[in-house]
Amino acid sequence: MIDVVILAAGQGSRMKSDLPKVLHPIAGKPMLGHVIDAAAQVQADAMHVVVGHGADQVKTQFSQQAGIQFALQTEQKGTGHAVMMALDNLAPAGVTLILYGDVPLIQPNTLASLIDICKSGNVGLLTVNMDDPTGYGRIVRDANNKVKAIVEHKDANESELTIQECNTGILSVPTEKLHEWLPQLSNDNAQGEYYLTDVIAMSVNAGIDVQTIQPKYAEETFGVNNRAQQAELERWNQARLVSDLMAQGVTVLDPARLDIRLGNSTGVTVGRDVVIDVNVILEGDVIIGDGVTIEANCIIKNTSLAAGTKVKAFSHLEDALVKDGCDIGPYARLRPGAVLENGAKVGNFCEVKKSIIGEGSKVNHLTYIGDAIIGKNANIGAGTITCNYDGVNKFKTEIGDNAFVGSNSALVAPVKIGDGATVAAGSTITKEVEADKLAVARGKQVNLKWQRPAKK
Ligand code: UD1
Ligand code: CA
Repeated sequence: MIDVVILAAGQGSRMKSDLPKVLHPIAGKPMLGHVIDAAAQVQADAMHVVVGHGADQVKTQFSQQAGIQFALQTEQKGTGHAVMMALDNLAPAGVTLILYGDVPLIQPNTLASLIDICKSGNVGLLTVNMDDPTGYGRIVRDANNKVKAIVEHKDANESELTIQECNTGILSVPTEKLHEWLPQLSNDNAQGEYYLTDVIAMSVNAGIDVQTIQPKYAEETFGVNNRAQQAELERWNQARLVSDLMAQGVTVLDPARLDIRLGNSTGVTVGRDVVIDVNVILEGDVIIGDGVTIEANCIIKNTSLAAGTKVKAFSHLEDALVKDGCDIGPYARLRPGAVLENGAKVGNFCEVKKSIIGEGSKVNHLTYIGDAIIGKNANIGAGTITCNYDGVNKFKTEIGDNAFVGSNSALVAPVKIGDGATVAAGSTITKEVEADKLAVARGKQVNLKWQRPAKK
């Protein structure tokens, strides 16, 4: 049985925010979400999030997730006290892993190593060596280099203050021992807190080995106390996400100018020979097929782009499905429910919402297509608008295969344009245009004899 306790009760006052600290995002995902996901990857049986400040907000955000329980710590009396709030729910026969909600980028393989130490009956402790250990608990070792205790910075004597090996706060303990030791903690120390770190000395006294490991990356153990630290971890994490894409064969023109926002998604899936230019944001579940090119300054959210598609500069795509060999932008907007069949084109300053653009069809300039179904090889002229909304309800527009809609037409839905039909430029179409017919619905041109007024 693996129980994970995640400490998340602290205020985070240096964030200067109404949002509880652990809900602040890294890569578009709350920090606490990162910790929960890392723990989930080491097959944690139960997770206990210790909440305090902003408890309701934190609970609301995560209560839906399976396997998560909350323990309320109404007063923050220290890390040991915080773990105690969850103690009754920890299965004595197992292992407990203690994590921090504001140390978001801890990696699953590091956690797995800590759990392994604990499974063999020892206490596992994650430490890092710091050039400047100010503020951290110091790892005190004996003559045989065995861990003896952790001494908090504020309680440390002069020689202890020179120790550079620091407590990350992350540890694993046989749960049975936690039940034994936590009630024995005292708050007789410089901060008047119940220190979780005191269990290390208790372990040593009980003859249980404290084995330390260090993380592959120091950043795994970095906590976020202010916006600058949040931004630092954001950059580090982005660099990792982007190098992961490059390792899968993506050309990223500037790795520092591609951002990946995970949200609740699993992230970005890529094919071969994808090219991504600068200032692109990929958000949520994004699937990018072979040979796709994404030009500069595009935002692509929860969208699938099939092989050979080109997204030109400054395009914004959300909840769209784009099939093979499509051409989008520059300056195109695909809104939720936009579907582009193979070889479709949506050009500059076009907006498509909840509509299907059929195979090989073109919507090239300054057009709004909403709630429409367009067949194959249709051509929608510049400035065409599907008038899909009467102020109360939405209506559908159907446009057949090979239809040609002249520029600046208004198609007032519900309305049908048949296969091969033509709509004359500038028409306002309010009733069905049958297949192969030409609809002209505009004022007739008259050329009058006319004298321009002259200036008096
Ligand atoms: C703690 C460790 C220190 C370690 C450092 C690493 C102790 C006594 N000290 O110190 O050895 O080097 O982390 O960053 O454990 N929290 C609660 N309830 C509380 C107190 C804290 O939920 O009553 C949470 C905080 O929200 C935070 C985490 O526990 O996420 C750590 O608390 P913090 O006050 O930052 O611990 P430090 O004093 O920095
Ligand atoms: Ca801290």
